[in-house]
Amino acid sequence: MGLLRAIWHWFEVRLGLDKVTEALKHPVPPEAASYKTGWLYVFGNATMVVFLHQVVTGAILATTYIPSPANAYESLLFINNEVTLGWLLRGMHFYGASAMVVLISLHTARVFLTASYKFPRELNWLTGVALLVLTLAMAFTGQLLRWDQDGIWTVAVATQFAGRVPLIGAEFAQVILAGGSVSGSTLSRFFALHVLIMPLLIFAIIGVHVYLVLYHGISELPQSGQPVDPKTYRSRYQAYLERHGRPYWPDVTSKEIAVGTGVIAIIALLAFIFGPKGPGEPPDPTVLVADPQPDWFFRWYYALLAYQPRGIENFVMVYAPLIIGLVLILLPFVANRGERSPLRRPWAVGITVVTGIMLVVLTGAGLKAPWVPEFATEPLPPEVIGATSGPIYEGAQLFHSEGCQACHSVLGYGGSYGPDLTDVAQRFPPHEITLRIMNGIADMPPYRDTLTLDELNAILAFLHSIEAGPDDEARSTRD
Ligand code: HEC
Repeated sequence: MGLLRAIWHWFEVRLGLDKVTEALKHPVPPEAASYKTGWLYVFGNATMVVFLHQVVTGAILATTYIPSPANAYESLLFINNEVTLGWLLRGMHFYGASAMVVLISLHTARVFLTASYKFPRELNWLTGVALLVLTLAMAFTGQLLRWDQDGIWTVAVATQFAGRVPLIGAEFAQVILAGGSVSGSTLSRFFALHVLIMPLLIFAIIGVHVYLVLYHGISELPQSGQPVDPKTYRSRYQAYLERHGRPYWPDVTSKEIAVGTGVIAIIALLAFIFGPKGPGEPPDPTVLVADPQPDWFFRWYYALLAYQPRGIENFVMVYAPLIIGLVLILLPFVANRGERSPLRRPWAVGITVVTGIMLVVLTGAGLKAPWVPEFATEPLPPEVIGATSGPIYEGAQLFHSEGCQACHSVLGYGGSYGPDLTDVAQRFPPHEITLRIMNGIADMPPYRDTLTLDELNAILAFLHSIEAGPDDEARSTRD
């Protein structure tokens, strides 16, 4: 004991630790320390804890990952299957990314609802917006490093948006891709951004952000009828702290440590249960993926693109993100004084609630994605076809292999991009069906050059068999 104390003392004198412990005990508003309202204040710290978790897991991954098109995919399989606990590490990095996106969104929503961006904390907000953008950029660049079909095509699609930006679009897309298309240069560029440039920026901006939080103090919970006036705010805040302040350490830190530990435990648990994310299909530039599946935290945007009315693509892809960015930047300038209480700011509450509901609903839709062909659909099992050879069986095979089943479902098997074809033979006479298949219709491609007459007849026989086939059989076996 005496020795430990002596060692502590040695460091304390040389590092000035007494000053640090002193500073840790600085007074904060009692709401941040209380067990009732203190939980509102934990999201920022939790985001930072997860960021550090990402740095650690990411750094270990980078010791084995090979950022080259020839090896990236294989090296991920190697980490998944060969490296001790590599699968867990990859899972934790993925669920960590998910957690960071969720937590920084919650933190932003809380700060917005309590109007903590008002005087004198405008720069807290602006550095926070930069951190939000960088977090999303990290999530986005991470997808490409997986170097599977989904990652590559998501980036390819996203650069098409960049290409729509007026005047500088082409150059912008070129800069993102490091060339004219997704290639090894793109991978190098994304790797450098993801493991070096953006993390350094995030570290630096977190430094400023945390300094500002310390300098201005944690914002008190807003009271209706106590508007912020830049002339009096500071003295009132100081007086409040002097009268009611509680020490940051340990009153706030206890909750921060509990939540930080809890979040990391949840990330590890999810990784343990669900394992690593991908890599999915290996990249194959000859396969044009019509449905790149971005990671779940971008699915809401993917749904938005799918549901947008025709003709406003430029707005959704280019101007809406720019406008949202501009609003976030201008907010603390146009509204840096006045009421902070959400009770007196119904618009702020409305915007937050509507945005939250929209994000959840769109994410749900984006995860189901009924508007894109489902390439992973299973062929119909023989007992559903009701045959193991002959034209009906052949037709069922062609229905799957020719891609019909990616868009159409039959008896519950297949995609929902086009209409369900279970009862199509009852709805249309054979020549009508033939016409639609051969000529295509609306969003369905024509098949006249792809199918032979025999193949067409087999598909028709299959479609015709469904209304009468398995159902009848099921009935006869039941009888
Ligand atoms: C890219 C997706 C896609 C593929 C692949 C596709 N279809 Fe379609 N199909 C559609 C869509 C969408 C419609 C509805 C078009 C409309 O009426 O607006 C449709 C309509 C049809 C119809 C008319 C059904 C009705 O209820 O109106 C038939 C029959 C049909 N498809 C058969 C096939 C067959 C057989 C194949 C394979 C050889 C096939 N389709 C491949 C998307 C697809």
